[in-house]
Amino acid sequence: MPHKIRLAGRQPLASGSARDVYLHPDDPDLLIKVIRKAAIEERYGKGRPWYKRTRRYRHFISYLREIREEIALQAQCVTHPSSLQKIVGFADTDLGFGLVVEAAKDRDGKLAPTLPQLIETGRFTPQVRAHLADCLDELITSPVVLADVHGDNLVYAWDAANGDHFVLIDGIGCKTFIPLHRMSTRINGYAKRKRAAKVLMKADRANAAKIERAATPASASRLHAAE
Ligand SMILES: Nc1ncnc2c1ncn2[C@@H]1O[C@H](COP(=O)(O)OP(=O)(O)OP(=O)(O)O)[C@@H](O)[C@H]1O
Ligand SMILES: [Mg+2]
Repeated sequence: MPHKIRLAGRQPLASGSARDVYLHPDDPDLLIKVIRKAAIEERYGKGRPWYKRTRRYRHFISYLREIREEIALQAQCVTHPSSLQKIVGFADTDLGFGLVVEAAKDRDGKLAPTLPQLIETGRFTPQVRAHLADCLDELITSPVVLADVHGDNLVYAWDAANGDHFVLIDGIGCKTFIPLHRMSTRINGYAKRKRAAKVLMKADRANAAKIERAATPASASRLHAAE
């Protein structure tokens, strides 16, 4: 009988609000995402609205949303868009049913930094911003449906084929009861353009705030020295 992939005791490379992300023990180019037990209890346990507890797919509804989009991409695109994480399968792990995805890495082979990490470390240059805009443009023209395009779901990756580029690693799929965005390319396109504009606006604001914070202590100490 095949063994479960052992992840217990290993250190996750990153964590989101629901999932821990581990390097695949058999392939350094892949990651395994597993939903934390605490997140399952919090979101789907007792005390949650009935429709969240009794849904057929329980917490794996999020996998279903993501997988549906991956299937749409495989069906409609000649090559996988570089701006979207590629889902390659499932994994039977000792921490539960996991989703296997390609790892987005930086130039040093480390896990690619998120958009907020780039901003906080002063690396959101005009060129990086242009790459973010390119990524959002590609997401708009691709058939994907977007749900949660916050900064932690966008990472700045590098690979030989695409150079520096942003990748959306989470937050895809249709969350509405009537899947209008899936049904209508026009509605989906409109919603995506609005989301993309919001992402850029928020990144610009966060970057301006970071620059201001960085400038404040220096100018304060200059003022102090002049006194
Ligand atoms: N394919 C990937 N390549 C590189 N890093 C990744 C990848 N997938 C996830 N990560 C890292 O792991 C973190 C958490 O992953 P993910 O966003 O999938 O978890 P989540 O709990 O579903 O997130 P959320 O809080 O948005 O619900 C990301 O913010 C990112 O830093
Ligand atoms: Mg996320």
